[in-house]
Amino acid sequence: MQSMLEGEQKDIVVQSAIEAFGEAGLGRPEVVAVAPGRVNVIGEHIDYNGGLVLPAAIDRWTALAVKRRFDGKVAIRSMHGDADPIEFSVNDIRKSPNRCWSNYPKGVLVGLQAKGVEVPGFDAMLVSNVPVGGGLSSSAALEAVFGKAVLELVGVEMDPLDLARLCQKAEHDFADVPCGLMDQAAVILCEEGHLLLLDCQDDTFSQARFDDPDWGLLIINSCVSHELSDGGYAARRDMCHRAADLLGVGTLREVPLAALPQALETPGLSEGMVRCVRHAVTEIDRTLKAVDALEARNYSEAGKLLNASHASLRDDFKVSCPELDFIAATVQNLPGVAGCRMTGGGFGGSAIALLRRDSTAEVSARIAEAYKAEFGIEAKIFETRPMGGAQAWKA
Ligand code: GLA
Repeated sequence: MQSMLEGEQKDIVVQSAIEAFGEAGLGRPEVVAVAPGRVNVIGEHIDYNGGLVLPAAIDRWTALAVKRRFDGKVAIRSMHGDADPIEFSVNDIRKSPNRCWSNYPKGVLVGLQAKGVEVPGFDAMLVSNVPVGGGLSSSAALEAVFGKAVLELVGVEMDPLDLARLCQKAEHDFADVPCGLMDQAAVILCEEGHLLLLDCQDDTFSQARFDDPDWGLLIINSCVSHELSDGGYAARRDMCHRAADLLGVGTLREVPLAALPQALETPGLSEGMVRCVRHAVTEIDRTLKAVDALEARNYSEAGKLLNASHASLRDDFKVSCPELDFIAATVQNLPGVAGCRMTGGGFGGSAIALLRRDSTAEVSARIAEAYKAEFGIEAKIFETRPMGGAQAWKA
């Protein structure tokens, strides 16, 4: 397990972006932006059902160093990609047909232009240690750094929630993922030491303290890569929305837990829709209960809710996979662990455990060993505290 001092991860990534910018012959950047990845503690697949979600920003970061150019060109270099920059003109931004990662920044730039922001040409250098395909919102972090950096470059202020919505739209229009607002909101709005309680019915949010020194969050990346544009995500979302139509409600949030048995009898609901409705309605209830349990520092109760969330995602919503099921089942039974569940969109990616911090090393070692023995894969495991959201500043 990697363990580092607080703040060190972020500083390393920011420093690397500044240095790489210079090494590419671009001199000193004008603006630097940084955004974290996110982990969802509970409230899965309910942002697009008007539910409540409870993510945290994690201690993994994407940094972007930028400098204005005067020829109307954008040139993006990445320490993780080809040596040649991705280049396009700001006056002619087109979606790349082959799922290229440049579609995320392109979508954000087009979104800024639609809001009347005069996006200038610029050189950019990107560095990230948010695992790609790990269910930890590397794409939301990528969107956020471009949004923040360009706004800082041109000196325009934008409400953070509006920026999150703009980034969400970029993901819809340019990456073909019809995601909810959770990821973009988390990487932009999170505050250090807090989980973000986002109510996706009306996009109101508050900060829920999570700063007990004895309890922490452990992320276990299965290293089974997930791809939300493959269709499984859109299919779930579609099924939830069609079920809401049949139930005569705007979103599944409007179905109270007490009305669930009756709702499940609604004529026309397919077997898949019944499972989706059951997941969404019970998950919304679990999220509300988890917020109370965490506030009361009742970790055993919160942990049970996490475990129940995993079972619902596995059996009803069917977005887990054997690797995540194994991780959750194994970690749930280790000493010091209150609960463990898959997190994020699913079909691979990561699990999150709520655990006593003094058991982190032991839990990490045991799950790493068991997972390797079962699947032959090295899981990537790290502890995180809730971090602050995206920032940009003049370098
Ligand atoms: C992905 C999406 C989010 C959310 C989660 C599942 O991360 O981007 O909007 O729907 O899946 O909770």
